[in-house]
Amino acid sequence: MLKDIKSILITREQLAEKVAEMGEQITRDYRDKNLLMVSVLKGSVVFMADLMRSIGIPAGIDFMAVSSYGSGAKTSGVVKIVKDLDVKLEDRDLLLVEDILDSGMTLEYLKRVLSSRTPKSIRVATLLDKPERRRVDIRPDYVGFAIPDEFVVGYGLDYNEKYRNLPFVGALKPEVYAENPADK
Ligand code: IMP
Ligand code: MG
Repeated sequence: MLKDIKSILITREQLAEKVAEMGEQITRDYRDKNLLMVSVLKGSVVFMADLMRSIGIPAGIDFMAVSSYGSGAKTSGVVKIVKDLDVKLEDRDLLLVEDILDSGMTLEYLKRVLSSRTPKSIRVATLLDKPERRRVDIRPDYVGFAIPDEFVVGYGLDYNEKYRNLPFVGALKPEVYAENPADK
């Protein structure tokens, strides 16, 4: 697995420090609110697990799964709910937890669907942001790191369902994509 990594973009230590900071900020902002953290599977589970433990006020959690990318690195533009929430959103202050904001199409769709269920508020926390790639006008409320337009893996992020368990965020060697030319 490590042999496929070209470079480490964000180390384990940098991730821990940033996620702790984000948790402190969210703790301050949601002190008098009714926080429900919603993780968008599967990429955000590692971030979610660390972020929720750095939040010092009661926080409910739930999970949603959408399909947007198929199995490769290229966006299809199609978003579909594969697993919906278990809890009702009325009276909740919803915080959508994402691994990475790329074109923004997934999040725009989710925000639209979830708004129609009338939560008290909706905000977005994303670990990574690729602002150059944005195709719709959507801005996250909490961002860990803005990164250049490069495909990254690790800390929950995958390429063809691999590399999610790496403890850092890294870039893949080009020959890894070359094995799947249809993806890039
Ligand atoms: P968007 O709808 O284009 O913003 O897509 C966001 C989703 O695409 C993320 O939640 C990831 O699952 C996936 N994605 C986008 N860029 C990357 C990347 O660099 N590495 C891994 N997954 C990515
Ligand atoms: Mg994702």
